Amino acid sequence: MVGFKYKQTQSVNDEALRDYFGKLAEADRHIKTGDGRGGDFLGWRDLGVRPGSEEHVRIKAAAEKIRANSDVLLVIGIGGSYLGARAVIEYLKTPYHNQLKTGDPEVYFIGNSFSGSEFNAVMSLCEGKRVSVNVISKSGTTTESAVAFRLVREYMESRYGKKEAAERTYATTDARRGALKSLADAEGYECFVIPDDVGGRFSVLTAVGLLPAAVAGIDTDALLKGACDERERLLNSGTANAAYEYAVARNIMLDAGKTSEVLVSYDPDFRFMGEWYKQLFGESEGKENKGLFPASVTYSSDLHSLGQFVQEGSKVLFETIVRPVNADPSSPVVPNDAANGDGLNFLSGSTMDMINEKAMMGTLLAHRDGGTESLIIEFGGKDAYSLGELIYFFFISCAASGYILGVNPFDQPGVEAYKKNMFALLGKPGYEQGKEELEKKISEI
Ligand code: PA5
Repeated sequence: MVGFKYKQTQSVNDEALRDYFGKLAEADRHIKTGDGRGGDFLGWRDLGVRPGSEEHVRIKAAAEKIRANSDVLLVIGIGGSYLGARAVIEYLKTPYHNQLKTGDPEVYFIGNSFSGSEFNAVMSLCEGKRVSVNVISKSGTTTESAVAFRLVREYMESRYGKKEAAERTYATTDARRGALKSLADAEGYECFVIPDDVGGRFSVLTAVGLLPAAVAGIDTDALLKGACDERERLLNSGTANAAYEYAVARNIMLDAGKTSEVLVSYDPDFRFMGEWYKQLFGESEGKENKGLFPASVTYSSDLHSLGQFVQEGSKVLFETIVRPVNADPSSPVVPNDAANGDGLNFLSGSTMDMINEKAMMGTLLAHRDGGTESLIIEFGGKDAYSLGELIYFFFISCAASGYILGVNPFDQPGVEAYKKNMFALLGKPGYEQGKEELEKKISEI
């Protein structure tokens, strides 16, 4: 169960929360009945894939096949078609999962930039290893992913021949539309569906996140079970629940003049969860000149860089600390040293986890003394079930927060602007018109 703590902050208190009751009740209705803006994109609410469902069984079967015949899975996708899978794998298996000799296939993410050097580096890691590919794109036309897939397709076909390359390629895309769907049908790739009513940033609990996670050896039954249980709790608690309190608290902070929310974790393994959160909230709320700017940091590392700003810089932000409550049983214990040359014997017998907890609490108090307010989200910790709970908690919070803010949390009209310019500059058919004007502007930069 995910918890939320806001006591002792200046801006967020029971009274301020009560002031939002009307807006929250409306947001709750939009989420439960679909009568708000973007109401046809609520598929994530009831979970696109249920544990043990036919789709889940098929995902697990494909993952088993990949685990048996491959040393590497290349995951091609960007934005919502990549961040969630990477976040889940890195949090539960560490960012070093590819180097650890666990027997699980290595999982690399490409097609999320136009960086040739990154692409080349990952492809060189495939040398001498058996490779499978999971290309993920809801629209099926995203350029970053499509360019990478064209290159990877050529690599796979020249290495395995057309038939085996197709057997080693899995496409996760729309059920009917898009260039990727047509290509997958023509080539005979096994396909997984991103449901129409689930947007990219809400898709981690569909095949988009589940297939790469299952290949990496993650217990996707537990991940989905955690999400299902959190769903039951949140959807059956009226308007009184931790996810809604967090959603309201964010809006209270914004009203109080805080323009940025910094998601704080004390675990470097959580870094990509921070990237995922930034997309979820940034793309859902940053529109119509509204919204909190979502940032993320990893303490205590970033206390030695951004900590100074948070303590004493301009008061434009608040912190939301994500705190796992279960102790890490594998946390190393600081040994005793009779000579005590480094003066650290006061820590002998403490685990790194225990030290981290004190760093967290000490920092929280110092930042509050410095005038930076903070909220706390508590969840179980580093296991698939607790992560499923946390993901669903963020889904509901994000939808509610967006509705309270007064935007459609499920569209992303602003993402198109750069694409239009890029296509014109690249000479994509149909986009020729603006090219000259853009080139003139570029010459004046
Ligand atoms: O949340 C979203 O909808 C976007 O971030 C998409 O996930 C991203 O643009 C990738 O799109 P697609 O899956 O169509 O390639």
